[in-house]
Amino acid sequence: MGSVTPPHVVTIGDLRRIAERRLPRVVFDYIDGGAEREVTLRENCRIFDDVTFRPRQAVAAPPGDLATTVLGTPVRLPVLLAPLGSSRMFYPRGEEVAASEAGAAGTIYVLSTLSGCPLEDVRRATAGPVWYQLYLVGGRDAARAGIARARAAGYGALVVTLDTPVAGLRVRDVRNGVKELLSGGAAMLPFLPQLFLRPRWLLDFLRDGGLMDFPNVVPPGQGPLPYLDVTGALEQTTVTWKDLGWIRDAWNGPLLVKGVLTAEDARRAVSEGIDAIVVSNHGARQLDGVSPTLRALPEVVAAVGGRVEVLMDGGIRSGADVVKALCLGARAVLVGRAYAYGLGAAGAPGVARALEILREDLVRTLTLLGCPSIPELGPSYVDVPADWRLRRQDNLADVLA
Ligand SMILES: Cc1cc2nc3c(=O)[nH]c(=O)nc-3n(C[C@H](O)[C@H](O)[C@H](O)COP(=O)(O)O)c2cc1C
Repeated sequence: MGSVTPPHVVTIGDLRRIAERRLPRVVFDYIDGGAEREVTLRENCRIFDDVTFRPRQAVAAPPGDLATTVLGTPVRLPVLLAPLGSSRMFYPRGEEVAASEAGAAGTIYVLSTLSGCPLEDVRRATAGPVWYQLYLVGGRDAARAGIARARAAGYGALVVTLDTPVAGLRVRDVRNGVKELLSGGAAMLPFLPQLFLRPRWLLDFLRDGGLMDFPNVVPPGQGPLPYLDVTGALEQTTVTWKDLGWIRDAWNGPLLVKGVLTAEDARRAVSEGIDAIVVSNHGARQLDGVSPTLRALPEVVAAVGGRVEVLMDGGIRSGADVVKALCLGARAVLVGRAYAYGLGAAGAPGVARALEILREDLVRTLTLLGCPSIPELGPSYVDVPADWRLRRQDNLADVLA
């Protein structure tokens, strides 16, 4: 296994390169790719360059720590691990490995409904807090059963993903033969060689049990949902605002919605009694052409007006990115690919290194900014392009006047 320490690994991009060498193309592209022309995928990262820092010099204020709270949960790092379906494909027992490293770093792991490891095992794998991300795949009764298990196992919050009424068109997945490989029939043959080109991964994968079911999706009276069923199952189980009523009753704890990109939906979420909002475009894997999330963040923060906490994810690859999101009003961020590359590169040491890179970046950036702590970050530490200051609604009013 390649080393994940300096000088080999200095940035998240270095972990990405190592992951690309260890993983078969079909798995690497599943992590790395986005929807359609991948315009939003590129923009999610690029947009951070549009925001520039305004440091206060000569104040000698090294941050004591990076601690804050998210929905009342103390974290030592304002970076949560986002839910990533099928993480077990990236590395044996992938969800348990990632949860354990999140706990060691003092932050929250958010487990996807589409985990390859049972949610109880993931809970046991970490001393840190865990949250559960909800899809309604398998139907509402299966979701109810999953919610009850998550509550019994000690998950601290439920994150309902809103932006998957249908799976996005991920062109790389189609070209790499995801469907054919999952079919198990002769159609998979042309796509198999990519797996044999990565024998170490293949051995790990087979030793871990090969293609898994989804142990957290168990429709009543049936066994766990087989891996094959997912795309179709997503389409049959769209979440609507109406569903939040029964979900809240079934969960009876802190409830977040993930996938909000507009002031309109943010206000709706608040009026539905949601406890926190995650500004997200699903890592640019759903509707291509939507706003990069950093650009959507100020609109949502303004609409919410401090009534609930706002988190964001999408495109974060460094601690400086985290700082910019926090300056623009995010309580904390979630990272997806940043730790997925680490998991795919080297398992536990890779995830630990990803979180360490973000932590070191954060400390250095805060020190160079002259800001002593996470709660003190705010808009005065960044400049945004002039046209960001115009609210979309104001623009529309101008056009209609
Ligand atoms: C490989 C992969 C799988 C994902 N699976 C899920 C999922 O099961 N549920 C979910 O709500 N979001 C899922 N997402 C979206 C992430 O939770 C998160 O919103 C996104 O990765 C953030 O963007 P970033 O990867 O640029 O950090 C997935 C993202 C990736 C890259």
